[in-house]
Amino acid sequence: MALGLYWATACLAAFIAVLTLDISRFFSRKNHFDVDGKTVVITGGSQGLGRGLARLLSSKGANVVIVARDQPKIDIALKYTASAAKSPQSQRFHGISADVRSPEENTRLLEEVTRWNDGQPPDIVWANAGSSHPALFIDTTLETLRSQMDINYWAATYLAHATLRLWLKPSSTPSNTGSSYVKPAQPRHFIITGSSTCFVGVAGYAPYSPAKSALRSLADTLRSELNLYNGYRRANPQQGPVADVKVHCVVPGTIQSPGLAQENLSKHPVTRVLEEGDPIQTEDEVAAAAVKGLERDGYLITTQWLGHAMRAGTLGGSPRNNWLFDTVSAWVVNVAWLYIGPDMEGKVFKYGKSNEVKLPS
Ligand SMILES: NC(=O)c1ccc[n+]([C@@H]2O[C@H](COP(=O)([O-])OP(=O)(O)OC[C@H]3O[C@@H](n4cnc5c(N)ncnc54)[C@H](OP(=O)(O)O)[C@@H]3O)[C@@H](O)[C@H]2O)c1
Ligand SMILES: *[C@@H]1O[C@H](CO)[C@@H](O)[C@H](O)[C@H]1NC(C)=O
Repeated sequence: MALGLYWATACLAAFIAVLTLDISRFFSRKNHFDVDGKTVVITGGSQGLGRGLARLLSSKGANVVIVARDQPKIDIALKYTASAAKSPQSQRFHGISADVRSPEENTRLLEEVTRWNDGQPPDIVWANAGSSHPALFIDTTLETLRSQMDINYWAATYLAHATLRLWLKPSSTPSNTGSSYVKPAQPRHFIITGSSTCFVGVAGYAPYSPAKSALRSLADTLRSELNLYNGYRRANPQQGPVADVKVHCVVPGTIQSPGLAQENLSKHPVTRVLEEGDPIQTEDEVAAAAVKGLERDGYLITTQWLGHAMRAGTLGGSPRNNWLFDTVSAWVVNVAWLYIGPDMEGKVFKYGKSNEVKLPS
């Protein structure tokens, strides 16, 4: 009994200590994502969320490179992005037409950005290009299931691979002045745009959500793995990489974008039933929430209340943004899920009971 009380007190004291540290960090308003003067690459930057991000980061002083396939659309987006610049005289903007489903194109675009950026690799790379084709699983061709993986999973993975290989090159390779002083560099950021479909299984997203779940898993794993290089850099300032590398996963819910208009064409009515009443954000709202999360050093960043709740309910081993809020929200959501989970299952069952359902012939 006395021992139990001792342990309970120790646990409570530890919890309060963590909370205090966490709250003090919460109230510290240090900007962990200062993009002023930095060079940012955004794939899928010609419309939708990518365009919102390009414009917002431009207004915060970044040099922005937009990557997409359609050159005329890139050119329009570049003008739109440049018009928001914080320092129009010094900021630079560039467009690259590339199909990010090809590994070679991802390597090529990074080489082009580095040349354009006076031989320096970009500071921030945002794998944002993606495309959702919602439909029932058995109604979807295997070809579409595969192509959804190509644009949503493989495109970001190829870019992460090429970017990390570029960033993690030893700092002293071609020419070192011999001086022992190593300029402290700000971290480089690799950011992946996920989707809240990675948190909860929703009928009609089978072609898309597995790719986004895989991206979350990739981000979690890279987050763990990059500690290795960041640690090595501390011990080997001469031979290590120039800067620490951080990875983040931004997880939007529904965005009112050209991509959503496309989704609307194939979305099954039962998916609409499940999504009824969900918040829809503009590209600028999602961009603002995402960048705010990055400025606060967030890792898995949701952009509205429903996303926050879905994330809290499925945190698993993912790094926490804020120990206090993440832990308490997880408790609350786990209780709320006792109702929400069965309710969602019931809605799909009821739809099947009361509507014509297409069966395989
Ligand atoms: N819309 C939503 O409701 C929603 C919700 C959650 C997450 N997301 C995610 O958020 C991101 C942006 O979505 P969005 O709806 O804002 O975008 P969107 O309107 O569909 O625009 C997609 C962008 O990606 C580019 N792109 C598409 N395929 C490409 C390829 N193969 N190579 C290079 N660029 C390519 C497009 O330009 P080109 O066609 O000219 O190449 C365009 O710039 C995606 O990762 C999406 O999965 C969207
Ligand atoms: C897509 O459909 C939803 C739900 O019907 C609607 O609210 C939204 O405005 C549509 N968006 C676009 C871009 O077509």
